[in-house]
Amino acid sequence: MLQDQLQQLKIRALEEIRKASDQNQLRDLEIKYLGRKGELTKILRTVGELPEAERGPAGNLANQVKQVLASEIGRVKKSLGEKGGGIADEKEWIDITVSKMKDSLGHLNPVSKVQYELEDIFSSMGFMVLDGPELESEYYNFEALNIPSWHPARDMQDTFYVEGEKLLMRTQTSPMQVRTMEKYGAPLRAVVPGRCFRNEATDARHEHTFYQLEGFMVDKNVSFSNLKAILEVTAQKLYGKDTRVRLRPKYFPFVEPGVNGEVTCFLCHGKGCRVCKKTGWLEIFGAGLIHPSVLKAGGINPEKWSGLAFGFGLTRLAMLKYGIDDVRLFCGGDLRFLNQF
Ligand code: DAH
Repeated sequence: MLQDQLQQLKIRALEEIRKASDQNQLRDLEIKYLGRKGELTKILRTVGELPEAERGPAGNLANQVKQVLASEIGRVKKSLGEKGGGIADEKEWIDITVSKMKDSLGHLNPVSKVQYELEDIFSSMGFMVLDGPELESEYYNFEALNIPSWHPARDMQDTFYVEGEKLLMRTQTSPMQVRTMEKYGAPLRAVVPGRCFRNEATDARHEHTFYQLEGFMVDKNVSFSNLKAILEVTAQKLYGKDTRVRLRPKYFPFVEPGVNGEVTCFLCHGKGCRVCKKTGWLEIFGAGLIHPSVLKAGGINPEKWSGLAFGFGLTRLAMLKYGIDDVRLFCGGDLRFLNQF
């Protein structure tokens, strides 16, 4: 009997529809029963073949079943839709009842903060910001900078060498002086922030990995006054208008003359405090006028051009700025330290 067939189909279909666990399954069931070639549609088509007296009741029942199934499909679709939030791919859904997770956005390391501060200052004076290789050749790290293999400065800057190659982890950012001269020629202005390495017996003031920022300028008639002016502007932008710069002679093989650069302490303004160890001054850079043989190594004629160079200890600047008393904390990976910034 068609009526029995319809009842059984209704029961089976309703059960399957209620079990559907996602929109795709539901769509398949809709096609299976109500689609053009669906089971119910097929039955409906046979109604016309029934004896006339049976046609009316059978047709009514078939239509009722169709409505019941369609409305059940609609209901289940809606309840799945509420979970799915109407997202295009219905397999993917967001449970909007779960409480929002705490934002865990990262933040800048204190060294990056002072690095970006200096990059801004030097960019405003027309300096390019460049990157250099951390694995450097002995030539650029030492020889091209007037530090031949017998030079005592090699001892002070012992580092990690690649066995069998003339490669080492750079001890300073200064090797970028010659690389940049070779690439860009004169005139030029650039700063190079970056990571440096030394083979140190580590303690609170010494670490195998630290950051510097190198700067240099090559042009016609570059003088010591230019050097002092650039460093004064930088110090004042970093620590305020009343900051003064003190330059005292110091030997660096790649500059002549060379100086040690100090600025008045940003904390006590020169009076003497814990940060500046009661001297009133903070030693924060080395600098000088580029040695003629370094210019030559960079392919620049020292008779025509002259240059200045300076190197800031970025790690040291960050330690001073944030009152950090142990350099090893920077590479220690202790989140209790890092999360303070
Ligand atoms: N490279 C030196 C160092 O690591 C710092 C330095 C001193 C850089 C004098 C310079 C400079 O450019 O002119 O100790």
